Amino acid sequence: MAIKLLNDNVINKIAAGEVIERPASVVKELLENAIDAASRNIAVKISGAGLDSIEVTDDGEGISMEELPLAFLRHATSKIENEGDLLRIMSMGFRGEALPSIASVSRIDIYSKKEKQEGIHCFIEGGKILDLQYFPGPEGSKIIVSDLFFNTPARKKFLRSPVTEGNNAYELVIKYALARPDIAISFSNEKRQLFRTPGNGSLNDAVIAIFGRDFLEPLIPVKWEGLSLSISGLISPPGVAKMNRKRQLIFVNQRPIRSPLLYRALDEGYRGLLLAREQPLVILQIAVPPDSIDVNVHPQKSEIRFRDEQSIFRSLCGLLRDTLNARDYRLQDNLPQNRSQPFYPAAGRKTAKQKVEEQPVIPFMHNRKADKRVEETGGEPWIPFYPEEQAEGSVSRVYDEFKILGQLWDSYILLEKEQTLNIVDQHAAHERIIYSRLQQFYAASRGEMQMLAFPLLMDLSLRDMELLEKNQEILGELGFDLQQAGPRSIFLRGTPAIIAGQEREVLFEILELLAGGQGINLKNEAIIKMACKKAVKAGTRLDYREMMQIIQELFITDDYKNCPHGRPTIIAWKQADLERMFKR
Ligand SMILES: Nc1ncnc2c1ncn2[C@@H]1O[C@H](COP(=O)(O)OP(=O)(O)OP(=O)(O)O)[C@@H](O)[C@H]1O
Ligand SMILES: [Mg+2]
Repeated sequence: MAIKLLNDNVINKIAAGEVIERPASVVKELLENAIDAASRNIAVKISGAGLDSIEVTDDGEGISMEELPLAFLRHATSKIENEGDLLRIMSMGFRGEALPSIASVSRIDIYSKKEKQEGIHCFIEGGKILDLQYFPGPEGSKIIVSDLFFNTPARKKFLRSPVTEGNNAYELVIKYALARPDIAISFSNEKRQLFRTPGNGSLNDAVIAIFGRDFLEPLIPVKWEGLSLSISGLISPPGVAKMNRKRQLIFVNQRPIRSPLLYRALDEGYRGLLLAREQPLVILQIAVPPDSIDVNVHPQKSEIRFRDEQSIFRSLCGLLRDTLNARDYRLQDNLPQNRSQPFYPAAGRKTAKQKVEEQPVIPFMHNRKADKRVEETGGEPWIPFYPEEQAEGSVSRVYDEFKILGQLWDSYILLEKEQTLNIVDQHAAHERIIYSRLQQFYAASRGEMQMLAFPLLMDLSLRDMELLEKNQEILGELGFDLQQAGPRSIFLRGTPAIIAGQEREVLFEILELLAGGQGINLKNEAIIKMACKKAVKAGTRLDYREMMQIIQELFITDDYKNCPHGRPTIIAWKQADLERMFKR
């Protein structure tokens, strides 16, 4: 084929492939344009997961009749003029390709009015302006994108479920609303407003408007100002954490970004204060001179390059460590729930603890050599166990099968069993046990719910309220008794007995699942979450009885070799394996 220059339509569609991946990408571009137009109020509304329509209304500068066709030309922008400007970008946009890209894969209605000018309306389909005329309206712009991807069905196929796509848009608007607490930003899905920030410049007020007071309450405010760098915002204390980075919201010069560098700084700042896989919650505003970063790295502008990575890493890390040290947090603060409660609360049946107590005391072989080693190594990481009684002669059946050797790094149980050395991941094993119990519990559909002596009052986001309402049935099946207390608060009156002590956390996890709308097997996913939350964490010191409980139950559990996520619970080394390693 001969070499030919592509026409504009094809070029725009290619660009759309990069910039407009999903409905949330359109929301992002329109929202950024509204922010760049110096708006004070911005309303985002979506319907049909954003595929039917996305509407962004602002009260910003507006677009004039003459400029409108230019806005839809590729590489036409009012935000930069020359190469030098690329090095000092303070606006969200600068590439001049968002509108033409969106226009090439949708139908767009624009209503806009500049100060002291007549208002206009324009209709564009598949990138072509089909109508442009004067039209009265308020100052600012309203842009309505309908039938997204109507002419690129392949793109539609790659989209996730409507719930997930709607949630992506919601998460995206949240980021900007927190990045710009000085602008009142609202988000509605299917005509239901899920939040509106007040736009008074207060990050706390924006957080309350979006997530509710319960979310803000434990967070610690931070502020630090250096010569050419300032950091401010909110961070979580140890103990308040998530299992993913979803609530690590970082804004550099008010732009939401993803940054492996800053994620590493968070990991470092919280090192030793969180349990395995836990992630802190942070909302951080970082301000740097615009010429010290490069935003022009990626078409979606969600990644940036820092000129001085070292200094930003050190500053953030230092701020976190200083703040957390000043409060003298230790990892131990994080563990009390797991330590002070029995693993299995009574739920109309005997707890595992009771069961263990009824069994003959299991003698423990006192091992002098091991003791000596403990002394030599200062007691770490081996912990000796001494049974409370040495019940001579009452060797149990269980004892014939295995012998607990100790706990390693507060995370693994070491075990001798049938000529093998077994390393049991205490969290994974406990998770499997609780998961199986929960499955039996639900399969028997006894729905044994534990009514809480004092109902828990929970302040939620409107989005969460909506999720609870929509999923009442499944929450009921899962054993949650909820009652609405106010427009954005509920009483949690009853829960499955097994999650006692962690009701709030589990409900938040389930809400996150519901928001993700996986849908395939939500109930099973929820059970996995409950098991994970309730299972003893890595880094928790266990006593002999607790280890015994886990091991005894593990071996009588179905599929005990894997945790519900599919990871192994136990790794076994045969004597022969060891002998080979020692070259015997
Ligand atoms: N809501 C709005 N209010 C006022 N002007 C707008 C609005 N949306 C777009 N514009 C104008 O249209 C132009 C083109 O917008 P577009 O999003 O395509 O490019 P950009 O924002 O300049 O760069 P980028 O592609 O990086 O977003 C903008 O430069 C701006 O002048
Ligand atoms: Mg733009």
